Amino acid sequence: MSMVRSNTQYVCQSCGTVASKWAGRCDGCGEWNTLVEEAVGAGPKGSLAAGGAKRKSKSIELVSLSGESEEVPRLISGVTEFDRVCGGGLVPGSAILVGGDPGIGKSTILLQACARLAGKGSKVVYVSGEEAIAQVRLRASRLGLSEADVQLASETNLRDIIGSLDKAPDVLVIDSIQTMWSDALESAPGTVAQVRASTQELVRYAKKKNTVVLIVGHVTKDGQIAGPRVMEHMVDAVLYFEGERGHQFRILRAVKNRFGATDEIGVFEMTDKGLAEVTNPSELFLAGRETQASGAAVFAGIEGSRPLLVEIQALVSQSSLGTPRRAVVGWDSGRLSMVLAVLEARCGISFGGQDVYLNVAGGLRITEPAADLAVAAALVSSAFDVPLPADCVLFGEISLSGTVRPVGQRDTRLKEAEKLGFSQAILPSPPKGKGAASSSGLTLTEMEQLHQLVDYLQPAP
Ligand code: TYD
Ligand code: MG
Repeated sequence: MSMVRSNTQYVCQSCGTVASKWAGRCDGCGEWNTLVEEAVGAGPKGSLAAGGAKRKSKSIELVSLSGESEEVPRLISGVTEFDRVCGGGLVPGSAILVGGDPGIGKSTILLQACARLAGKGSKVVYVSGEEAIAQVRLRASRLGLSEADVQLASETNLRDIIGSLDKAPDVLVIDSIQTMWSDALESAPGTVAQVRASTQELVRYAKKKNTVVLIVGHVTKDGQIAGPRVMEHMVDAVLYFEGERGHQFRILRAVKNRFGATDEIGVFEMTDKGLAEVTNPSELFLAGRETQASGAAVFAGIEGSRPLLVEIQALVSQSSLGTPRRAVVGWDSGRLSMVLAVLEARCGISFGGQDVYLNVAGGLRITEPAADLAVAAALVSSAFDVPLPADCVLFGEISLSGTVRPVGQRDTRLKEAEKLGFSQAILPSPPKGKGAASSSGLTLTEMEQLHQLVDYLQPAP
């Protein structure tokens, strides 16, 4: 602990200017709050510079792109939804960030996955900086995992943690990065500087010991992991755990993965015995649907490699405000504005004096542009107060010109809809020259222009 305090410097995260003292504004680029404390000589760059100056360079071996590379064996936990989001299991030597709101279930899912991994013979160490041993044990007993062979510690000093792991584990969980601190820095735990330094240390440990390091990171109020950008670049994979308060669904989403596909999701349900896997999410998201209401449309979406049906709800009502409200849950508000503008400009439906609310049922967040057509249908259905057929799904992208554009995986979407008992679909016409001989048993209403949807929903005169 005899760190010399002056061994730190402040580096601007925007332009890289180095300063010896902290300042609110960077002298180099004039940006505010971009100076972050760093240990001099620590970190890969520092150590390279230090050692690099003294030793002669060694020639590196260059090889061709072709050639044998062993397929890395992955650690498979058996929690299928978790493994799939990780790209088919955990890759030894990788560092994975698991982010999410406090209380969403990060510790729970990791403890469950760890217990399963330990059961398969992996050496697993779980370090909690947030909870005492007793609390973690209590959770384990609630999950029925008290017998699992997971080694526990409650500690926050990274040097002590890493120093104590004389035999490297296969899997190391650090819960959470915001509680960890490296004594090379003066800053308090949870600051960007500490989060960065600790992450760097853990990533280096993962590579050196071939250990999977799972790092928990809490999300701040504005939806970002503290020190998020820097952290996301340092780790191999970033998984976000999401869900709405008041809903029991939890979605694990890969937003970055060096060893697998992104946009893959895992769906869980929070129960009193921990997180249960949901193998047929469409059924769950459509449960309790009101089939006769106007303003609801079922979107046949794709999340990662899986089809997912979800209800989109819209409410268009006379506004009493000077500036009407536009409120969106689960979708991009910019995208909603676009669909509204296209409906106004190309189909002559005015939303000028109307409040517009849009909600994706079940607490899911949709990012696919293919949802445009279902959103438009929900909006028009609400505006006209005409319900859509209850057995109908929709998908299709809308362009600014009012064209309905084809989207990928048409047959997968239709097949899922058929499986769940739907009998019709409203979808884009297939591209010219590509007669879509779909084997689907659904009645298809194909559209090229958005006004066809408006005509379809037009109330009988
Ligand atoms: P937790 O994993 O501690 O969240 P995080 O680590 O992301 O902060 O989950 C906490 C919440 O989950 C808490 O509100 C209680 C709830 N929970 C259950 O509903 N069932 C359970 O079996 C467990 C362990 C937690
Ligand atoms: Mg926790």
